[in-house]
Amino acid sequence: MHAVTLRDLMWIWMLFLCCASCYCGPDPRKREALIRLEASRRTGGNITLNERENLLDRKLQKLKQHDMEARQFPPSMHFFKAKHLIDQSPVFSLLQKMPKGAALHVHDFAMVGVDWLVRNVSYRENCYVCFTDEQTVRFIFSSGQPASRPHCSSWSLLRSLRGKIKNSTDLDNRYSLKHCSEPETIGEGCLSQMFISIHSFIRNLTLFTEDPDRAYPSQDTVWKRFKQAFLVAYGLVTYAPVFKDYLYEGLRQFYEDNIMYVEIRALLPVTYELDGRKNNKDWSMRACQDVVRRFTASYPDFLGARVIFTVHRSINAAEAVKTVEEAMTLHRNFPDIMAGFDFVGQEDLGRPLWYFKDALSLPEDRGVNLPYFFHAGETDSQGTDVDQNLMDALLFNTTRIGHGFALARHPVVKEMSRKMDVPLEVCPISNQVLKLVSDLRDHPAAVLMAEGHPVVISSDDPALFGATALSHDFYEAFMGFGGMSFNLGTLKELVINSLRYSSLPSQTKKKAIEVLLGKWDKFVSESLL
Ligand SMILES: *[C@@H]1O[C@H](CO)[C@@H](O)[C@H](O)[C@H]1NC(C)=O
Ligand SMILES: *[C@@H]1O[C@H](CO)[C@@H](O)[C@H](O)[C@H]1NC(C)=O
Ligand SMILES: *[C@@H]1O[C@H](CO)[C@@H](O)[C@H](O)[C@H]1NC(C)=O
Ligand SMILES: *[C@@H]1O[C@H](CO)[C@@H](O)[C@H](O)[C@H]1NC(C)=O
Ligand SMILES: *[C@@H]1O[C@H](CO)[C@@H](O)[C@H](O)[C@H]1NC(C)=O
Ligand SMILES: [Zn+2]
Repeated sequence: MHAVTLRDLMWIWMLFLCCASCYCGPDPRKREALIRLEASRRTGGNITLNERENLLDRKLQKLKQHDMEARQFPPSMHFFKAKHLIDQSPVFSLLQKMPKGAALHVHDFAMVGVDWLVRNVSYRENCYVCFTDEQTVRFIFSSGQPASRPHCSSWSLLRSLRGKIKNSTDLDNRYSLKHCSEPETIGEGCLSQMFISIHSFIRNLTLFTEDPDRAYPSQDTVWKRFKQAFLVAYGLVTYAPVFKDYLYEGLRQFYEDNIMYVEIRALLPVTYELDGRKNNKDWSMRACQDVVRRFTASYPDFLGARVIFTVHRSINAAEAVKTVEEAMTLHRNFPDIMAGFDFVGQEDLGRPLWYFKDALSLPEDRGVNLPYFFHAGETDSQGTDVDQNLMDALLFNTTRIGHGFALARHPVVKEMSRKMDVPLEVCPISNQVLKLVSDLRDHPAAVLMAEGHPVVISSDDPALFGATALSHDFYEAFMGFGGMSFNLGTLKELVINSLRYSSLPSQTKKKAIEVLLGKWDKFVSESLL
């Protein structure tokens, strides 16, 4: 150890003098500028709010503060457990009232709250039910006794099954398993009641459960339930009259959630009539066209809906060629309502986009325009063939990317998507329920939105998750991805994005955004009262 020299003492003295006379830490003005720079990068960061919007923003920040400081923060919890908390949040009720523009990523048979399927559709005449070996149900409408199905009990007419129960209204309203397992009520009556209660049908049609972590230990188990729920609904929604009513009711529920336009990923399955006759895809397209026309006639401030024709990604290359040809024909015959083409199904188990390259090149080879809207990157299997879907989607000039959950791990593809202005359709609740992320604060879109990557918020399959058309997903995105940093400007950019990135023709789009901004101003004024 060397002795302290005079020279050392002089240095210490000089340092003391400097810090006593001036603040010598980082420059606060520079710090302010950095904070502003960072804020300007995030989604909505360049939107200038007017005076009234600023007032509402201050109110909104206070409401958010309240949710942030609560003992339980909903975006950190599984949606099935968080829903009742979100429903009570004043931020949520504001988001419900907010005009949200368009929902650009929803699937045809996951739009209508399942309550309606049970309380309305299953009560219609000629509805039969059978009970499968796997403790689930199938439905079919038929004018006579339908032919029985493997692995399912014989078909029973639901109406006469219900008639056997003394008071089925009472059963519907008050049914609970606990009620049924009380010793004095166990018996024939109770068992059949259990099987056909509204409660059990509703549970068969959704993924909802009180203990999701136990019920769905892996992605494969939750996807399996997902497919099962889809099959339960299938017999109901492919009955031709219900197909139309379902779409109408779907549009109504989206309209009620302050949405003015929807793009629906639709399988366009074969629909059937009471006598067993089958209808083809042209019938389904005409049905959609007809329903949308009827709906917009009754709700003139609703802009409409367009269809993105989808097919399951388990098909083989030859089937894909036929399907893409079919899509080109539909696009030519129904240009006003048919937006384009996509694949659906669990990405990890399905075939990668590159496998379909011949089919997907057909439109370009033939000089035909067929826009693509690919699901891609709905995976965490990094480095697999499926993980290349994001890049391939862009190579095939996709209009938007469904989910893009894996994008943050692909810097080059991320840059491409930004340069090409191809947005992600981010569906927070879907990603959480299907087990890509558990705490929504950890969702990669939080990072992407912090750097202003183009995104829209959507809901994928709200009916299966028990969510509203779009408001619950907006809550999760706004609070979970943004915490205190997102503001009213973020919301404004998101709702404008929903129309900007829609498939609407540019003139219609421009007008739609004007209408939306009118609704927005009204929303701001009314929320200040
Ligand atoms: C069921 O829905 C149809 C079509 O939306 C409607 O006309 C009918 O009144 C509803 N029935 C019941 C019982 O709610
Ligand atoms: C059936 O139950 C409902 C609801 O509990 C009740 O209002 C109604 O009076 C009952 N009907 C009969 C016939 O008992
Ligand atoms: C589905 O319905 C069947 C028959 O009603 C019932 O036994 C089963 O518990 C239901 N499944 C779920 C997950 O609720
Ligand atoms: C994608 O778009 C680019 C630029 O417009 C074009 O050169 C290319 O051929 C397109 N690729 C496909 C597969 O359509
Ligand atoms: C806002 O503008 C700045 C400067 O033009 C740009 O660097 C930034 O990316 C923009 N932010 C967004 C969210 O677009
Ligand atoms: Zn989807």
